[in-house]
Amino acid sequence: MIQRIKGTMDILPSETPLWRYIEGIMREEAEKYGYGEIRTPTFENTELFVRGVGDTTDVVQKEMYTFADRDEDRSISLRPEGTASVARAIIENGKCSDPMPLKYYYIISCFRHEKPQAGRSREFYQFGTEMFGSTSPASDATAIALASSVLRRLGLKNVKLHINSIGCKECRPAYRASLVEHFSSRRDKLCDTCKTRLEKNPLRLLDCKNPDCREGAELAPKTTEHLCPSCERSFNLLKNALDAMKIDYVVDSSIVRGLDYYTGTVFEFIADGIGAQSTVCGGGRYDGLVASLGGPELSGIGFAMGITRLIMAMREAGVDKIETKTPKVYIAAMGEGAMIKGLEIAERLRREGVFAECDVVGRSLKAQMKYANKISAEYTLIIGESELESGKAQLRNMQNGEQSEVELDSFVI
Ligand code: HAM
Repeated sequence: MIQRIKGTMDILPSETPLWRYIEGIMREEAEKYGYGEIRTPTFENTELFVRGVGDTTDVVQKEMYTFADRDEDRSISLRPEGTASVARAIIENGKCSDPMPLKYYYIISCFRHEKPQAGRSREFYQFGTEMFGSTSPASDATAIALASSVLRRLGLKNVKLHINSIGCKECRPAYRASLVEHFSSRRDKLCDTCKTRLEKNPLRLLDCKNPDCREGAELAPKTTEHLCPSCERSFNLLKNALDAMKIDYVVDSSIVRGLDYYTGTVFEFIADGIGAQSTVCGGGRYDGLVASLGGPELSGIGFAMGITRLIMAMREAGVDKIETKTPKVYIAAMGEGAMIKGLEIAERLRREGVFAECDVVGRSLKAQMKYANKISAEYTLIIGESELESGKAQLRNMQNGEQSEVELDSFVI
């Protein structure tokens, strides 16, 4: 048997109602905040992610699904995330001169060649939002408020917001130098990955999970103590805005994010009780991204949520049971004539907007009634020879067993 590729998943009809419920809330909330949906291609020129996400990141170095295009000498990658594509799309579609801010959201699948485990797959689904054209912390607060209102509507109380500021191009170099100094003195204790990160991307040492690296990270200088006056003011304003909006948070200097485009505000929503992959939402400001892709200087702030991780957190919180649609009526038919009549009635009812099902397997009456129970039909209608002759049949309420006689050709339900 051919099996699905490791790290991918089948989402079956028994699960899709929960997915659609979650996605519905995401769309509703995003639109309430003035975001419009954008759809970009599943694959892009590899160069977009190398420049956008950053060539020192794990995502670009180790995790992208990259291949040569068939008909041209061109390298293509499946998108590992959505932000770079949205930034490319606004440049390419001439949106950078529109009135600001631009606000977009998306629900997409992304691809990363990571080691699969609970909450981490190679194809995964994200709800993401991006806002361009504001450097004000009001836009950071709005993005965070949208993420938190989605989580609230999903019933997730076991999720905590962690915020940090990683500074801008003014304050980052001095902070970077102090980090390099701090970690260089304990270089021998670092894991191999962090040894290379020390030269290329020292900020990432702060979120390494290796216990020895963690110990060093805890003693490391904090970004928030090295902010320039402008970043400090923005971070304080953001905290004031979150307080005013009654959104709880903790300032957490270990939040540095794994993608190179971040500047200033970064944040994660972390869930309790779902294991190691507990970040259900991650985001931040990316003020240099659009310019780095050939567009104008246009700041940005956004986030993305992993839908599988949200489902895990909803299960943990016991809020994953949602109402699903069940048939209003199931028509059991005995014999060919009754089957045709059953199809005719079911189709008439559906055209009137009713969820109606009719036997298509030709099972025994007993088996059909068992099936009607299994699919939780509200009513059943049994048609046999005598019902065909009289044009009437008993409509049975499956909850209380009550029956009423109805005209086959004209009854409404
Ligand atoms: P990210 O932190 O790489 O950020 O991913 C965002 C979220 O996607 C994570 O918090 C997690 O819930 C989910 N996720 C990531 N990788 C996986 C995986 N392998 N399996 C399952 N879920 C996963 C970004 O992607 C940024 N583009 C977010 C952003 C938008 N920043 C600004 N705008």
